[in-house]
Amino acid sequence: MPLMAKQSYAVTIAGGGSTYTPGVVLMLLQERERFPVGRIMLYDNDAKRQETIAAACAIYVRENAPDVTFGYTTDPEVAFTGIDFVLAQIRVGKYAMRDRDEKIPLKYGVLGQETCGPGGIAYGLRSIGGVLEVLDYMEKYSPDAWMLNYSNPAAIVAEATRRLRPHSRIINICDMPIALMDVMATMCGLHDHHDLVVGYYGLNHFGWWWKIEDVQGRDLMPTIRTHMAQNGFAGEGSDMAFVDDSWLQTFKKAKDVWALDPDTIPNTYLKYYLYPDDVVRHTDPMHTRTDEVREGRERSVFGTARQIVEKGTAEGFGLKADAHSEYIVDLARALAENTRERFMLIVPNEGAVENFDRTAMVEVPCVVGSTGYERVCQGTVPQFQKGMMEQQVSVEKLAVSAWIDHSYQELWQAMTLSKTVPSASVAKRVLDDLVEANKEFWPELR
Ligand code: NAD
Ligand code: G6P
Ligand code: MN
Repeated sequence: MPLMAKQSYAVTIAGGGSTYTPGVVLMLLQERERFPVGRIMLYDNDAKRQETIAAACAIYVRENAPDVTFGYTTDPEVAFTGIDFVLAQIRVGKYAMRDRDEKIPLKYGVLGQETCGPGGIAYGLRSIGGVLEVLDYMEKYSPDAWMLNYSNPAAIVAEATRRLRPHSRIINICDMPIALMDVMATMCGLHDHHDLVVGYYGLNHFGWWWKIEDVQGRDLMPTIRTHMAQNGFAGEGSDMAFVDDSWLQTFKKAKDVWALDPDTIPNTYLKYYLYPDDVVRHTDPMHTRTDEVREGRERSVFGTARQIVEKGTAEGFGLKADAHSEYIVDLARALAENTRERFMLIVPNEGAVENFDRTAMVEVPCVVGSTGYERVCQGTVPQFQKGMMEQQVSVEKLAVSAWIDHSYQELWQAMTLSKTVPSASVAKRVLDDLVEANKEFWPELR
């Protein structure tokens, strides 16, 4: 059934205690002319973590949009009844487990990353159950609602929902292609990603642009290639003021990633697969990205929230909508108001990439309207990309199979196949440590 346009929409944010929640709430309020939100509900399974964020958001909403109903709960029935959209941003195991995902592989000389390599696989085996739980609540209490999921690792979560909930109204999406398109638009003297028309293929955190044009159809690839050859995604003309130093290094490293195939422009995440030795060399195994996020984003978001609650007002804190979450509003609006805008989505391939597994979850441009999405066909991919994608999609599929079948064997195969892992013996050592660390979250493996 197509979604019908309404006078106002009810939105539930799952993972209400996320560091991204205040930015998303402010974004929803800021964009009300384009997407009229009438009710915002936060839902989390950790009441204490959510309380801090939610109490501050409640004050902000009361002061700035008193006509919007705001609430927060840990009760699924209250959270998911009578809603139009779920924005899902859960992190099963929270930063404590992200820390283990990053530091355990490093003990064995393998990179430790939130969504790539063994850490990403471990996170995947935690996330599948959490995302299915939220999806099932949504379907139970609001069967016509859509879930926009950006809980990571999106590739593994998407494959799990394809296999286990094939008819569900869930769209998996990532902000990285959009963020990089903003950077490339600036390189070309344009405003943002809305000014680019692109061809892109790959898996989530594992893709390439093969065509980038402006809305008049002019080829922007030559300009972008010149920039990549010098600075990767960093350098003059790229607005990097908002990124931490570790992200800046990733934007710079894209120059070396790009060098492998100068015909295309790579997603930054490919550095973890193409230069894993470099990444390990430049990582302090005692202080990884989780430490940076805890000392940075988490401390500042929770610190500000506590102060707002103490003072009883959100005025004077300079709170800003998260410009990078605007795509979520664009996507919700495309579904609600049938805008037929193009988005990069993580969807079953079904031939969008011709010479690739039809059942793979690929990331490709799609046209979105009130009945859902239609893929834009991307033709065939070159041998280099095909080889990499075949290997990585097998990792993701085996990880999901391992979760479904409770299979140690399949999980060992998944870890071994990851391009970030040098051998089956190293894979086994990393895996055995991860099994121990994830006891509380993974199915018991046989
Ligand atoms: P966070 O740990 O601050 O927040 C996650 C929240 O989810 C926590 O409050 C936690 O209690 C809650 N949670 C965990 N399991 C839950 C469950 N089963 N039901 C309800 N709530 C649950 O994490 P963060 O750094 O703010 O990131 C949030 C999520 O968004 C992560 O999955 C992250 O990877 C993802 N993310 C994705 C993209 C993308 O491009 N796809 C971009 C940014 C963030
Ligand atoms: C990008 C990716 C997300 C990822 C995030 C990590 O936005 O698209 O999928 O979760 O970066 O950022 P962090 O600051 O938490 O390391
Ligand atoms: Mn992402």
